[in-house]
Formats: sequence, C-alpha cells, structure tokens
Amino acid sequence: MSRRIHAAVFSPTGSSKRMALLLAEGMAKALQAGVELHDWTLPAGRERPVRLAGGDVLVFGFPVYGGRVPEICLPCLQALEGAGRQAVVLAVYGNRHYDDALLEAGDMLAAQGFTVAAAGAVIAEHCIAPAVAAGRPDASDLELLAAFAASAAQAAAEGRNVAGRLPGVRPYKTLPPSAPARPSTLASCTRCGACAQVCPLGIVGRDDPSLVGGGCLRCCACVKFCPQGAKAFLDERQEAIRTWLEAVCRDRREPEFFL
Ligand SMILES: Cc1cc2nc3c(=O)[nH]c(=O)nc-3n(C[C@H](O)[C@H](O)[C@H](O)COP(=O)(O)O)c2cc1C
Ligand code: SF4
Ligand code: SF4
Repeated sequence: MSRRIHAAVFSPTGSSKRMALLLAEGMAKALQAGVELHDWTLPAGRERPVRLAGGDVLVFGFPVYGGRVPEICLPCLQALEGAGRQAVVLAVYGNRHYDDALLEAGDMLAAQGFTVAAAGAVIAEHCIAPAVAAGRPDASDLELLAAFAASAAQAAAEGRNVAGRLPGVRPYKTLPPSAPARPSTLASCTRCGACAQVCPLGIVGRDDPSLVGGGCLRCCACVKFCPQGAKAFLDERQEAIRTWLEAVCRDRREPEFFL
C-alpha cells in the first residue's frame, strides 16, 4: 500500500482543519503519498481508530485553547500508535499566542512513539473575538504554509527530530479555572438544528436547540455556524474576554515554523 499522510484534526470552527489539510496535501504532493482525514471534532469522529501503516506520516492540527492543546484531544492522541513513525504538528491560534501548545503536542506525540519531524504555529481568526485576526489566514499565511509543507515533507523523509527545539515551558501553562458556560439562543432561531450538528460535545438539544447541556467548551462552533446569528455568548465573562482580546491582540503575529 502506498504511503499516506494522516491529517488528524480537532476543529470546531474549521480553521485548524483547513490549514492542516493544506499542510497534509502539500506534504502528500511532495512525497507522492495519499491523504487520509481523521476528524476528531464530533463525538463519532473521536470514536474511530486511526490506523497507521509502514512509512505513514501523521499531521496533527488543533486550535490552541488557553495556550495549550485542547483537553478533548487527549484520549484520541493517547490511542495513537506511533511505532517510530514521523509526525508533524500544526498549532492554529487566534493571534494572541500559542504559549506551550507546540511543546505539549510534541511531548504527547513522542510519548505515543512518534518522532516529531517538524512543527508550525499559524494564525487564524479568533473564534471568540472574530475582529481579532479577521481575514486570517490570508494569502501571505497560505504561501508560507505551502512552503512549510514542502520542508516538512523533506524533514519527514529524512527522519529528522525537532522535539528538542520546540518553544514552551514545562510544566505547561496552568489553565484558568473552568467556569460554566452556555450560549444563549435568540428569538430569531428557526430550530434548523445546525448548531446541534456542529457541537463537538453534542450538548445542544436536537429537538429544542435552546436547551444546552453542561461542559460547554466555548468553542463557538454553534455561534459561527448558525445561519440566523441566533446563538451568542451574552455573559459578562465572555464579553470581558472579547474586549480584552481586541485590546491586546492588535499587532499582527506571523506564522512560525520549526524544522
Ligand atoms: C476556549 C478557547 C481558548 C482559546 N485560547 C487561545 C489562546 O490561548 N491563544 C490564541 O491565540 N487563541 C486562542 N483561541 C482562539 C483559537 O485558537 C482560534 O480561533 C482557532 O483558529 C480556532 O480553531 P478552529 O477554527 O479550528 O476551531 C481560543 C479559542 C477558544 C474557543
Ligand atoms: S443554528 Fe441557529 S437557527 Fe438553527 S437551531 Fe441553532 S440557534 Fe436556531
Ligand atoms: S454549545 Fe459550547 S461546546 Fe457546543 S458548539 Fe456551542 S460553544 Fe461549542
């Protein structure tokens, strides 16, 4: 069987999936390989095992949450069997910072038996504050990502290991205490059910989308994909975070790559 680039992604609002797939496709082109997507965003996708063969390469694409790898990805990562294969990490973040996320992802993949050949941190619209990094990734970001794909393919082919050079600090950044969150549903809701379909936790009621269960990630998928603009976080905490992000993330950050 020919070599495959496995793009494993968690991506509630779609940016990480888009960018990880572009990376995987670029690598596949350079290595004359195929691409297989493992979408860990929805509960059913997180149940499906990832089967790697021979010289297959893993691309792990995820959004940075609180400077870390989203906790929801951990069981999927822990089920992977690297067996000395190569992996490439792509952290996607909303122009604040990625803090320890690359280091953490690299450590996790190494613990599963992968060699991390290359890693990147790239910028996309901040899902909580869409005015931050609006329009990212742009043409310049995508050009840099395409060049990185070619370099990452070469690094994987040569069996390089970038693990010792990933930025970040151990122990990793402490996550803020979890506060209960629940998006509101406005009167313009037509009960189309789109928000229930995209929720990574399946906590939005399918019959009554205004009923939202506990454990919300604040991932904003329901907000982004509601065709009526009828889902929104109206709580003071989310409003304060949005205002803070808009104030402190004004300066454009550029993609960073580690090879
Ligand atoms: C709970 C949460 C925490 C986040 N933390 C960070 C962060 O620490 N730094 C940052 O720059 N962006 C942060 N973001 C923004 C996301 O990383 C960014 O919007 C990303 O593009 C979302 O990826 P997706 O489109 O694949 O869902 C956070 C978003 C959420 C929902
Ligand atoms: S996606 Fe929007 S309109 Fe559709 S059910 Fe959800 S809140 Fe209502
Ligand atoms: S209810 Fe929470 S976890 Fe579900 S899609 Fe909306 S923001 Fe994400």
